[in-house]
Amino acid sequence: MSEYILVAIAWPYASAKIHAGNVTGSHLPGDICARYHRLVGHHTLMVSGSDSHGTPITVVADQQGKTPREVFEHFHRGFLDLFIRLGISYDLFTHTDTENHHRVSRDIFSTLWEKGYLYKQIQEQMYSEAQQRFLPDRYVEGTCPHCGYESARGDQCDQCNTLLDPQDLLNPRSKVDGSIPVIRETEHFFLDLPKLAEIGLADWLNEGKEHWRPNVINFARRYVGEGLQGRPVTRDLEWGIRVPLPGWDDKCLYVWFEAVIGYLSASIEWAHNQGDPKAWKNWWYNPTARTLYFIGKDNIPFHAVIWPAELMGVGRLYEDDPSKTLNLPYDVPANEFMNLEGQKIAGSRNWAVWMDEALDRYDPDPIRYYLTAAMPETRDTDWLWDEFVRRNNDELVATWGNLVNRALTFAYKRFDGRVPTPGPLEDVDTDLLTRIENGFEPIGQLIAGCKFRAALNEAMELAREANRYLEEKGPWFQIKQDREAAGTTIYTALKAIDSLKILFAPFLPFSSTQLHHDLGYPPPLFGEPYIATFEEQGGRVHQALCYDGSKATGAWKASELAPGQALRSPQPLFKKLDEEIIETEKSRVDG
Ligand code: MF3
Ligand code: ZN
Repeated sequence: MSEYILVAIAWPYASAKIHAGNVTGSHLPGDICARYHRLVGHHTLMVSGSDSHGTPITVVADQQGKTPREVFEHFHRGFLDLFIRLGISYDLFTHTDTENHHRVSRDIFSTLWEKGYLYKQIQEQMYSEAQQRFLPDRYVEGTCPHCGYESARGDQCDQCNTLLDPQDLLNPRSKVDGSIPVIRETEHFFLDLPKLAEIGLADWLNEGKEHWRPNVINFARRYVGEGLQGRPVTRDLEWGIRVPLPGWDDKCLYVWFEAVIGYLSASIEWAHNQGDPKAWKNWWYNPTARTLYFIGKDNIPFHAVIWPAELMGVGRLYEDDPSKTLNLPYDVPANEFMNLEGQKIAGSRNWAVWMDEALDRYDPDPIRYYLTAAMPETRDTDWLWDEFVRRNNDELVATWGNLVNRALTFAYKRFDGRVPTPGPLEDVDTDLLTRIENGFEPIGQLIAGCKFRAALNEAMELAREANRYLEEKGPWFQIKQDREAAGTTIYTALKAIDSLKILFAPFLPFSSTQLHHDLGYPPPLFGEPYIATFEEQGGRVHQALCYDGSKATGAWKASELAPGQALRSPQPLFKKLDEEIIETEKSRVDG
């Protein structure tokens, strides 16, 4: 049965470039998941976009003397180019400043208000007398009341991940000028989390979460169990989505309340672009659809608690059938962090592996391979340049690439550029093919369960086995006495390779696509991501990444390679890397 899978990936703030930690944290695991489900033949929708609002953008705009719009448009454009180069195959990567997203966000707010899940309350906020304005959360810094971390931000502590309000901070100070803010009263809307916990949020978190990562579900349960308080969902800000109530339009929706709505609004935008405006409902109202949210651990509270609370409170949007309710997250496979050579990534200090720069020097698949092998699924990991080189050289080049290269070159040269016709297969031949055929089910299960490292390991183990097979049979010796026996070996090896091509495809889409071509298939294995320009009602124009989903093949199964198929002149899949790059790369960040 063809299932509906929504791959929802955290929306990056469009105020900084994307680094290795961002990619391994959310974009890459989401992409592997989506590509796998497309190969299986499931209806897969993968969405995200640039988070264009919030203080991360206005801080940079202030620093650079630009408007927030200029800042986010610049970084947004960079994201689109980067994802194409890295093969992150978004069906839609849009942004939060579209007319569509504004409308959906306002409608969610209004629905929550009408249904009684928002309340108004006077709040004490940090106000800068020098600047004569309320200070956004991230403009205030101080000591975390929970763990004592001295540089906690007003919205969240980077050390213990606790969500904060600026007035929780001990010794608060303005990040802009170091002055001590005063407290002033201002009225805001609050999401009634205690009420939402009662009507089902708490029960939902306590039921059927066995497939969730323990750190995620434990965090969420603790958060709800410790006695929830309402959270403000509006702010005294100029840049953002205006509160959609008369007399309130000098305030904006809080970026976090609104950014998570992007998953829904982007699905709606995608459906609209398809010319099938209701298609999004297949993922959002169909109770058997599965929605997976790929995020970093700092985003857990918003995806495991706040967004489900919003969805539960809204219940239904743009849908008349009263029996339907919006789907809650099926899984939130949050990753831990990736550090760089033992130290936390710090973009501002240039302590980072910038993805656009890495792609100027290395091919996308080796980067994807290493970022998967070292993915911080259960604990923090490190990007280590010597490991990047070792894994590229020992695993991609010496194991998988070498296997492909030997078998294809031999077939191409010695069997007239065609898949040889085998003689009767012996046990060793069928054993190998059976082993690999039997890999599809467990590797698929591992990917579907978001255990990407383990899945990749299993695939590489099968490649090792195929390599050993080729080594032991030695077709280059066989051919001297028995051409048919050599043909059987090469046929078997090519079939194994053809299957491995699919097993590796979610991880290594570029090399699998090339191999697909070299094996003589008509392309493509996957659709292509491309940048499109859209004009919305009201004349606003925006650019987004799209994906040609019509090409997904349902190819997740063992090879049916036919004897006699014409091959194309094989090209090496991977390049060996010089050990010298380790020191060069390290000095690049050191300086
Ligand atoms: N831009 C925010 C961040 O990078 C939020 C990402 S997830 C979202 O942390 F869904 F809320 F957008
Ligand atoms: Zn803390």
